[in-house]
Amino acid sequence: PVLVVDFGAQYAQLIARRVREAKVYSEIVPHTFTVEQMLAKDPAAIILSGGPSSVYAQGAPFVDPALFEAGVPVLGICYGFQAMAKALGGTVAQTGLSEYGGTAVEVCQAGALLAGSPDQQTAWMSHGDAVHAAPEGFEVLATSAGSPVAAFEDIGRRLYGVQWHPEVKHSPLGQKALENFLYQGAGLAGDWTPGNVIADQIALIREQVGDSRVICGLSGGVDSSVAAALVQQAVGDQLTCVFVDHGLLRAGEVEQVERDFVAATGVKLVVMDEKQRFLAALAGHSDPETKRKIIGREFIRAFEQAARDIVADAGEHGGEVKFLVQGTLYPDVVESGGGEGTANIKSHHNVGGLPDDLQFSLVEPLRALFKDEVRAVGRELGVPEVIVARQPFPGPGLGIRIVGEITAERLEILRAADAIAREELTKAGLDDEIWQCPVVLLADVRSVGVQGDGRTYGHPIVLRPVSSEDAMTADWTRLPYDVLAIISTRITNEVKDVNRVVLDVTSKPPGTIEWE
Ligand code: XMP
Repeated sequence: PVLVVDFGAQYAQLIARRVREAKVYSEIVPHTFTVEQMLAKDPAAIILSGGPSSVYAQGAPFVDPALFEAGVPVLGICYGFQAMAKALGGTVAQTGLSEYGGTAVEVCQAGALLAGSPDQQTAWMSHGDAVHAAPEGFEVLATSAGSPVAAFEDIGRRLYGVQWHPEVKHSPLGQKALENFLYQGAGLAGDWTPGNVIADQIALIREQVGDSRVICGLSGGVDSSVAAALVQQAVGDQLTCVFVDHGLLRAGEVEQVERDFVAATGVKLVVMDEKQRFLAALAGHSDPETKRKIIGREFIRAFEQAARDIVADAGEHGGEVKFLVQGTLYPDVVESGGGEGTANIKSHHNVGGLPDDLQFSLVEPLRALFKDEVRAVGRELGVPEVIVARQPFPGPGLGIRIVGEITAERLEILRAADAIAREELTKAGLDDEIWQCPVVLLADVRSVGVQGDGRTYGHPIVLRPVSSEDAMTADWTRLPYDVLAIISTRITNEVKDVNRVVLDVTSKPPGTIEWE
């Protein structure tokens, strides 16, 4: 793989994605990795990411100069560029001129790294320190007002660096520079696709599962559907998909899974009606974390019940159900420490928090992939487009979209409002523009309204349309006013106890996408 060393800002994931977009497989490792640990992964190249520190700050992460002796091509970006310059004997200092945002860069010689770049270009910067003198053996490729050395390379040692962020879309020639590094600098072929993952994963799943039985909690979402399709290809009939109807679903969801997914993949599907159990367990709770934990626990109890049923049904032919398939994605893995550590808190995110006494081993065939890559794998596996292209919906469902206690009546109100919003957004052709649009019921808030001749005292519904590339950050989607007007009118007219519709205009951060 190409290793992306994470210096602690949010850039490492973006770099890893851009490398994969260049059809080269990448993995993220923490900066606490020693050179030995990195080399043990047999890296084809290493990219040092940007980070929030100054290389002179106390406790700032540094780069072991031994890394540059290993013969592996290295690209330093922003902080990684400065750390590289410092480790190799260059000088890094403050110019007194910080550069943030789109910055004019002058290319003095393109070299290998900037081949194909015009002399003047705009690149996205975010730094206070700058490289003043390149280390010995390096050619200076570019400068900017605040960066005497804005890019350099040493072709002989295959070491490269840029002060700006080539991975962000605001650096129009950034992807070109990354590709120059990968193809020319490191001599890589660029032949990896998410589809390559399929054959590898099928072999790994077979090895892990052996002849045991496996269950997969299907939510109808992209991740669990693609994970199930992959496991189905690997172990066929040993897999049973379990759809837990927890009563926190949107309108039409069970039917969609039965109709679209089963028809396309032919998986064995068990639908468990657990509405009463979830409602009873959630009664009296309004704290978001408590609700998530309860939902996670009840999911597992339902899976355990399903496993017992499967074994009982199989009679004397039945083996144990030892494995549970989860659609954990790479961002979840990275957020819990690069996937190298022990505890993997975020894989539990799928179902909102797994209990400690989990009896299943997890099968997570998507844990190296980003969402768009999962979609590509799904398409290759023949998962229908209506599922592959679906907007994300959280495992805990409407349970984390009712602010306050969850009751059957409140669920009904929210389901009706959500169905209207989804219908109108689809009708307006906005589905591709929106990452997802949570519809939230503020169940403990009431406001005064007037309908017909009378006073009402009802609840507000919040629309939370967001645009995002990967849900890590998001912006609120500027929906057309006339579409908002139709949604508002219909919800207040058609949904009982709702007399107000409000729009959430908060980006993430500071707000998360979901309200709980
Ligand atoms: P937040 O609210 O953290 O959401 O900005 C980021 C993305 O994750 C989804 N989400 C979940 N998905 N189980 C899931 O499967 C969960 O517990 C969960 N919580 C949030 C959310 O819909 C958004 O796409």
